[in-house]
Amino acid sequence: MDYQHLIEEVYQEVRSKDPRGKVANYIPELESVDGEKFGIALVDLEGNVFGAGDYQEPFSIQSISKVHTLTMVAHVFHEKLWSKVNVEPSGNPFNSIAQLEFEKGIPRNPFINAGALVITDALTSKFENPIEKITRFINDVSGKECVKINQDVMDSELDHSERNTALAYFLKAYKNFDNKVEDVINTYVSHCSIELCCVDLARSISFLANDGYSIYAKREIVTESVARRINALMLTCGFYDESGEFAFRVGLPGKSGVGGGVAAVMPHKFSIAVWSPELNEKGNSVKSILALELLTDKLKFSLF
Ligand code: DON
Repeated sequence: MDYQHLIEEVYQEVRSKDPRGKVANYIPELESVDGEKFGIALVDLEGNVFGAGDYQEPFSIQSISKVHTLTMVAHVFHEKLWSKVNVEPSGNPFNSIAQLEFEKGIPRNPFINAGALVITDALTSKFENPIEKITRFINDVSGKECVKINQDVMDSELDHSERNTALAYFLKAYKNFDNKVEDVINTYVSHCSIELCCVDLARSISFLANDGYSIYAKREIVTESVARRINALMLTCGFYDESGEFAFRVGLPGKSGVGGGVAAVMPHKFSIAVWSPELNEKGNSVKSILALELLTDKLKFSLF
């Protein structure tokens, strides 16, 4: 398979269709990004890199970091985790407060904000300096010192973190949150403010395409069984209330972020990251999703 040719074809086709959305502005600093940016990087399981467009430029990975934090926790806590957070698609926006009350403080899944806060709370209990551990973990699985936290994005989100703070207090009221709200929000906002380029992002989730084994760290990150479950969660919950649509159009486990990134895996073949900052009304990147749809259409296979 000529992946370079494929990626370039997809890139050109998306550029010529040019579907538009809106750059996220509820975190004001994210709006300063050029909405025209667009990059794709595919990394196969031998470590070959294929790229097009702005694929070497770092961007804010936002919620895609929830895949990394979930992996760290799944690895450490095993079964205990699943009494604190569920594994069902939410069918609601990623920052819904109403759903958390209905469900008595057990978030629907680890990718909506409430679920991710439970995960970051668990990491806060486990580690003295959780953001340092998260940084180290992502560098390790990527085989590179690639993680940078964008301080301006972080400060900007901290200045506008009322909803996440409310979710954290709700979780605390239901005794599903152990640490100081401020500490966990700080760590959560820090990991959301991590910047990676498409290549490094694709490298960082490559172990999920490879039964849990990282070719970069040269070791098993999670067991094959945990890797399958993280992929199942990405497929069913990775795009919030648009997860069904992503499975229907693309058919791969993937995760989006409001920075416009999407990371996805084709098990046993490759991992891929796409970045384009303009989002649809569900908070997912318009061009990135189209690119992945074209990719699996041209490949004539997905998970299905
Ligand atoms: O908590 C937030 O709202 C952001 N730091 C992350 C949200 C996000 O990326 C949702 N994804 N599409």
